[in-house]
Amino acid sequence: MLNDCKGKVALVTGAATGIGRSCARALAQAGAVVIATDIDQKGVEETASLITEAGGTARALVQDVTQEDVWQDIIKNIKAQEGKLHVLVNNAGIAVGASITEMSLDDWQRQIAINLDGVFLGCKHSIPLMTESGSGSIINISSVAGLRGTPGLSGYCATKGGVRLMSKAVAVECANNEWPVRCNSLHPGVIDTDIWGREIAGIAENNPDMVAPGGNRIDVNLVAMAVPGGKPGLPDDIANGVVYLASDASSYVNGTELVIDYAMTAR
Ligand SMILES: NC(=O)c1ccc[n+]([C@@H]2O[C@H](COP(=O)([O-])OP(=O)(O)OC[C@H]3O[C@@H](n4cnc5c(N)ncnc54)[C@H](O)[C@@H]3O)[C@@H](O)[C@H]2O)c1
Repeated sequence: MLNDCKGKVALVTGAATGIGRSCARALAQAGAVVIATDIDQKGVEETASLITEAGGTARALVQDVTQEDVWQDIIKNIKAQEGKLHVLVNNAGIAVGASITEMSLDDWQRQIAINLDGVFLGCKHSIPLMTESGSGSIINISSVAGLRGTPGLSGYCATKGGVRLMSKAVAVECANNEWPVRCNSLHPGVIDTDIWGREIAGIAENNPDMVAPGGNRIDVNLVAMAVPGGKPGLPDDIANGVVYLASDASSYVNGTELVIDYAMTAR
């Protein structure tokens, strides 16, 4: 059946809020057993509770995606408890806005560690268990910023562009090795989540048109003016794409990029 994830075990990182929480809920609704992880313990436990209250199956684990030993523990834990792993959504990510001439090396490296090292470690440690499980689908959350440049977001663009090509390389390598694991990148456009009120606020100086008069933070509704139609998307718009890529409905979709941006990059 289309978009059916029954019998699948899915790990979603950065699942305490925003797109990650929506992905975890949608995968559970499609029948998957979900392991939701995040550095935010309270948020991720709330995600798991929301799923179980709705009749799904989920549990929460605390995970910092930058730590290799933590990835090893998470995969061991899933192997011991669920016995298999079929889906990995590498969603955890941050965006630090700053002009290229002002961005600190610390901010650059923090983005690389979470957005790129985290995705690399997820692929590295999930593929063996997915192979043992008989099938796998890795969905790496990139961005429209992985397709084209945005002023004030050079570090973020570097990580998201890296995720895009890493995903293709992983797809080809798995196929060549006859590992039954697919790997695709997903590129959200402007999605209404808390990310716009966090460090991304630093791009305000480079993009004054994205700040409401009298404010000092990025306003997602102003950013969405760059989207044909002028509206931001919702986390569920991305989660629906994730469920498709996780399910067997996409079994011949591999090494590609799914852009969900309401034509933002179409012109
Ligand atoms: N919202 C958008 O417009 C948009 C657009 C394109 C791409 N994205 C991407 O989608 C993903 C989710 O973004 P969102 O908008 O839901 O953001 P968000 O800020 O709402 O959620 C990000 C989550 O990642 C978690 N996280 C941060 N650092 C972590 C770490 N080291 N280890 C584990 N978890 C960590 C946070 O605690 C948070 O729960 C990110 O990769 C982001 O780059 C978002």
